Amino acid sequence: MTKLLMRALAGEVLRVPPIWMMRQAGRYLPEYRATRAQAGDFLKLCYNPELAAEVTLQPIRRFGFDAAILFADILLVPQALGADLWFENGEGPRLSTITGPEGLRALKGQDDIHDRLAPIYETVRILARELPADTALIGFAGAPWTVATYMIAGRGTPDQGPAHLLKNADRETFSALIDRVAEATIEYLSMQISAGAEVVKLFDSWAGSLKGADFDDFAVAPVKRIITALKARHPGVPIIAFPREAGAGYIGFAAKTGADCVAVDNSVSPEWAAAEVQKSGCVQGNLAPGHMVSGGQELVEAAQRVVRAFAGGPHIFNLGHGITPDADPDNVALMIETVRA
Ligand code: CP3
Repeated sequence: MTKLLMRALAGEVLRVPPIWMMRQAGRYLPEYRATRAQAGDFLKLCYNPELAAEVTLQPIRRFGFDAAILFADILLVPQALGADLWFENGEGPRLSTITGPEGLRALKGQDDIHDRLAPIYETVRILARELPADTALIGFAGAPWTVATYMIAGRGTPDQGPAHLLKNADRETFSALIDRVAEATIEYLSMQISAGAEVVKLFDSWAGSLKGADFDDFAVAPVKRIITALKARHPGVPIIAFPREAGAGYIGFAAKTGADCVAVDNSVSPEWAAAEVQKSGCVQGNLAPGHMVSGGQELVEAAQRVVRAFAGGPHIFNLGHGITPDADPDNVALMIETVRA
């Protein structure tokens, strides 16, 4: 029987939606923390295929989600392009910065990334073998704008200021960087698909800070380019796009980019997303991740509201953003029980 996630992505309206969770392998799980300690640190875990496959499988074993997402990070692509990457404990990622044409020239080409990324493809192959027969395997990458914001600033930024500055001051360098990331991302995702990923997702976490024509040029166009190239090479593989906090930009995003499903964050109501986004196809989302910390009757009611709002069309149940380290695994179990009841 076809996997539930694939049925929703094909446009089927299901009585019970498939369910998975962004960052489902993560620090809220004691078994994740133990495997991460065994690997040494987060990046060593990403590049260790056996242990990366193990942490990918942990939430599947514990909760029986309908999909597993490859354990890796969107910043492995900049690293494969030649950027230095490290994680400061408790603070997040740090990278070498790109501030002008020299930085761009120093980057590797899209065909030179695979040596570094080979362990990720091996993780996908292990997962394709070891996942339960009804669990779908999702591969992923960052969308070019979000990846570029980290490559330019060298870290996460609240308003993506340095990336906006380069975009406005040196459009040529900025656009060329977006193109280089898009080209590498096409090759990276194509390799994940060849290794066994059945679906791929593009995370554009900072899409919401692109306004007006910038949204069309840097949140829509590069994602469309990646999807068009992947569809030509792998016609049957569905693609989920997540232009987080796009607001009105969610409307028509699937048609503009060719995505099979649009993931929505919890800054929009499920009723609004059902009316405005789901009318053109599958929607993923959008329970507020805070419910995984607070739990209780409010979690139950909020999860029921999401299910009810999206019941008239194809829907994948998910959080509006990643689960946080302070979440209680019991609340995850309660969410799944509520959605499947
Ligand atoms: O969803 C999954 O379970 C799959 C694995 C995954 C990770 N990161 C693992 C991770 C995915 C899909 C990502 C995507 C990612 N990475 C995004 C886009 C989605 C989003 O959250 O907006 C971004 C912006 C990154 C970059 C990144 N990686 C940041 C900013 C951080 C630090 C913040 C944090 O939560 O600590 C990471 C680290 C990271 N990536 C962790 C995990 C499980 C935590 C690392 C740890 O174990 O210490």
